[in-house]
Order: sequence, then C-alpha cells, then structure tokens
Amino acid sequence: MWRPPQRIRYEASAGRIPSAAEAAASRLFSPVDIGPVRLLQRTWVPAMVPWRATEEGYVTEDVIDWYERFARGMPGAIVLEATGIRDVPSGPLLRIGHDRFLPGLRRLVETVRRASEGRTRLLVQLIDFLVIRRRPEPQKFFERFLAVTDRHRAALGDPGLPEAEVRARLSAMSEQNVEKILAPDEWEALQFGYRERVSDMQHAHIRNLPQVLPGLFAEAALRAEEAGFDGVELHYAHAYTMASFLSRTNTRTDGYGGPRENRVRLPLEVLAEVRKHVSNNFAVGLRFLADECIDGGSGVDDASYFGVAFARAGADFISLSRGGKFDDAKQPAIGAAAYPYTGRSGYECMPQFISDETGPFGRNAKPSAAIRKAVRDAGSQVPVVCTGGIHNFDMAEDYLARGVCDIVGAARQTLADPDWFRKIRLGQGGDVRVCEYTNYCEGLDQKHKPVTCQLWDKLPSAAGERRTADGRRRMTAPVWQPPE
Ligand SMILES: Cc1cc2nc3c(=O)[nH]c(=O)nc-3n(C[C@H](O)[C@H](O)[C@H](O)COP(=O)(O)O)c2cc1C
Ligand code: SF4
Repeated sequence: MWRPPQRIRYEASAGRIPSAAEAAASRLFSPVDIGPVRLLQRTWVPAMVPWRATEEGYVTEDVIDWYERFARGMPGAIVLEATGIRDVPSGPLLRIGHDRFLPGLRRLVETVRRASEGRTRLLVQLIDFLVIRRRPEPQKFFERFLAVTDRHRAALGDPGLPEAEVRARLSAMSEQNVEKILAPDEWEALQFGYRERVSDMQHAHIRNLPQVLPGLFAEAALRAEEAGFDGVELHYAHAYTMASFLSRTNTRTDGYGGPRENRVRLPLEVLAEVRKHVSNNFAVGLRFLADECIDGGSGVDDASYFGVAFARAGADFISLSRGGKFDDAKQPAIGAAAYPYTGRSGYECMPQFISDETGPFGRNAKPSAAIRKAVRDAGSQVPVVCTGGIHNFDMAEDYLARGVCDIVGAARQTLADPDWFRKIRLGQGGDVRVCEYTNYCEGLDQKHKPVTCQLWDKLPSAAGERRTADGRRRMTAPVWQPPE
C-alpha cells in the first residue's frame, strides 16, 4: 500500500470513557431517521467485504457468523458488504441478481434481527462493476490477447506483415520499444491487466449501461426488500461503475459524461428507478466519494453538487467515503489483478497509522462537513454518514456536534471490536479493543482471503470457535459478555 512519505506514526486511543449516563444522553446514542427507517442510535457499520460467500455468490455459515457477530454489538445500522446486482459469475462476492439468492439473504436478515434483539437496522450495499483482468504474462499477451491491427503493422514498418509475425516481433522487443508501438489502452492492458471503462463506447454493453443499470439496481432493491432488509445503499463510491460515471474522468459523449450535470444523470436515474420499485417503508440511500483523491478527479465541489442533487431526488441518506480508485493503483504482479486501494487514493480511503501531518484519523471530516453544509443550504435535512478513522466516543460526538455528519460510520474499529459502541453505551468503554490501523485486514481483502483482525488472535481461544482453513486465525471477533 502507498504511504505518505513523511512516515509519521500515530496511535489510536480509546479517549475519554463516558459513563453510561453520559452515553445515554449523548448525540451518538440518540435516534435518527433515514427516510422511513428509524435508527435507534447514530452508529453505523459501513460495508466491508469479508470474503466468505461461495464462489457462486451465496450466503454461507461463515457469512451468517460474521454478521451475527456485528449484530451482537447492536449498532444503529449495518450495511451488508458490496453485493452484486447481476446474475453473472463474480467469484466469492455476495450476489442478489436472482431470486435463488433470497433464502440465504433472508436467513441473514433474521440472524441480524435476532442477535441485535431487533435494535440494528440492516441495509445491503448494491454494486455493479466492470470487467478487470489479471496482469498477463507478456508472451501470452502478445500471442493471444492483443488484437493485431494495421496500426501495429504500420508502426513496425511493413503493412503486409502476417499477424503471427506481428505477434512474434512485438514479443521479442524491449519494453521501451513496445510502449512506442502499443496504443495507451493496450499498454495498460499489458502492464496492469485489461480494465473496462465507462467511456469504452465502442462496446455495446458499455454504451448501453444507462439503459440496463436502472432496471438491474431496481430489481436487486426489490429483492432486498423481499428478503427483509430495511433498505439499500447504492454503491456510487470507489472504483466501480457508478462512481466512474460520477468521476470527472468520465468522458462519455452521450449525455452521461463530461459536465457534472451529465455525470450525475445515470446515478439519479438509478435512484429514481429503485424508488419506483420499492415500498415507502424501505430506505434508499447511497454512498459516494467526498473526494476521488486522484489527479483530474472529482473533488469536494463536485461532491457537494452531487449531494444536493441526490438530496433533492429523495435519497434517504448519503454516506461519504473517499478515494479508492484504480487510476493510481500500483502495478500488480503478473497473474494478479490491480487493487484500487494501493495508491494514494487507496490510502485516503483506508488511511494507515503511518501517515503525514494530517494523520490517519479524520481526513474525511472537513470534506464531509462541506458537503453536508451544501445540502443543508439547499434546504435538505437528509442525514449524512461520515466514515474514515473514527474510533472513540469523543471523536464521534465531536463530529455530530460540529455538523460534520448526522451518523458516525466506523469500519475497521468495528472490525477490531464489534462491541465497541455497545461497550461505550454501557459505560464499559475502557474495555474497547482499539483498532491499530495497521491494515492487516485490508491486506487480506487484497488477496481475497477471509478478512480477520490481527488483534483477535492476541486473545486466548475459546472452545467451538471457527478458524480459517489453515487453523491460524479466528474467523470472528472473540466473544464479549456484558456485565450483568
Ligand atoms: C476489509 C474491508 C472491506 C471493505 N469493503 C467495502 C465494501 O464492500 N464497500 C465499501 O463501500 N467500502 C468497503 N470498505 C471501506 C470501508 O467501508 C471504509 O470506508 C474504510 O475502511 C474507511 O473507514 P474506517 O477508517 O472506519 O475503516 C472496506 C474496508 C475494509 C477494511
Ligand atoms: S487488522 Fe484489526 S487492528 Fe489492524 S487495521 Fe484491521 S481492524 Fe484495525
């Protein structure tokens, strides 16, 4: 992972521990409505992919255990990991693109309800993503993947060269010379692995995204309601399709790219179609980027504009993340796929304890406050969720008091200790296991291995615990018994 060159080390701390009475009277533990759905407290577990689904995208016992463990901490809301809306193979990521996924999802909803004693609302994050391939072996790339054209022949100085000869000559060339001959997208496919973009208008399936996606998202949302979820979070953040439409790098020329009013058009059409399909009791919100954190990407001004547009269009909440783009991702090893959290923008999404003068905690606060203000100035009271480095009571309470957000999202801190909100609420904040922001968990995510927290394994094992296949790691956080 990229790290700021300053290499300043930070340590998260549990901060001041409030009494149960102080916690009960706090903003953090007061209710808030996301549209028709009431959260009993302003604590929010953002989407985290734990790599526990089957290869076909079904819920497994490990998925159930994972969310049951979070639900025991009784946060205001949990957002189920990014879940694919299409009925296409996508590896061990949860899917919701067909009714056959419903039984597993229903069980998950029931489990969360039971484990949280009905105190936690459950949403599901709906995602669409484009094709990304692994970085190829150069020889294979030249032999099989590269589409040979007359442009290559011309560059090689012989318009009559047979295809096999073009492939052989390119394969034998130095990287430096190959770079001069390949088009930029071919060079990228060789160096990083082929990656589709929303601006690849030469492909019908990309051209047609505005016709196809509203229906796919809407059907998935309807299915989510049928499964018993309280709402959906449309994934408009990070490196995926909808975020790419919002991005300032979106150069589509069909009215869905270029100026920001065009870039927000499809995200608004998706939101409208989803709303039309689900009932009035179901929350529909979305997650997008306060800042893409890439050169030439959308910044806080764009995000404020989008936030106002989503609020006016009736979003029930807006959740703000940052960064996490392919554009500045590190070159993957041969045989591996690029991972959008390896560059500077990836750092901004999940900042690590080794940081710069600003530090890893609170990088999303100022942008979120600016976006929330723009939304309020436009006359909307839509609740805003801010996430990024939040790990103790004072920090959360301060964000709420200063108007940074209305709901506090904490991903890694909740992974480190799923009971942390509950411990604070019960006056047991001294027992919170504080995240060290080492990003060990994120390293596992990158390798598509079951995500766990390194702090869990520092505690003695208990009987009956599930462990990873190699037996070395706990699959869920150690159990905590609240005092009688
Ligand atoms: C293992 C892991 C998986 C994640 N998966 C998702 C995801 O599916 N969707 C998403 O929007 N963000 C995802 N994120 C990002 C988090 O939701 C969150 O924005 C980020 O970790 C920063 O918040 P934090 O500092 O509280 O951890 C993931 C983060 C981690 C650590
Ligand atoms: S592994 Fe645990 S301590 Fe380290 S960043 Fe992830 S959640 Fe925090």
